[in-house]
Amino acid sequence: MRIQLTFGILMLALVGVHVGITFADADPRTVRTFKAKCAACHGDDGKGATEQGKKMGMGDLSSAAWQKEFTDDKIKAAINDGFKRDKNGKHQEMESFKDKLRPEQVDALVAYLRALAK
Ligand code: HEC
Repeated sequence: MRIQLTFGILMLALVGVHVGITFADADPRTVRTFKAKCAACHGDDGKGATEQGKKMGMGDLSSAAWQKEFTDDKIKAAINDGFKRDKNGKHQEMESFKDKLRPEQVDALVAYLRALAK
């Protein structure tokens, strides 16, 4: 009885996690998060063709070269930790989103950026 109950709870948890991940991939909330928190600089399409993007010498997140250079871990680190640096003669700055996004939102954004690839 006890084993069955434990098993039942475990299965429920697994199904819950699975459904959560499936929804996260195609989640309109992720699109909204990107538009609200990232698109001002990166552009809706991630190409960085915004006013802010031009000022900061923004790269194209949807390009094959970028997709190859950035592993999921690197993308996650950039979103969580942010950075301040000078590159190609431009000052680039991105805030840390660790306190503003839940870990599952960050994972969903990584998947979203992957889906921007040409
Ligand atoms: C204030 C402007 C700004 C905002 C807002 C912003 N970024 Fe960035 N981000 C930048 C700049 C500038 C770069 C550097 C671009 C380059 O190197 O070509 C960058 C680079 C990145 C990189 C690559 C990391 C690296 O080291 O080059 C990722 C991944 C990224 N941004 C994701 C996001 C996500 C996801 C969001 C929203 C949660 C976001 N950014 C919001 C400015 C911003």
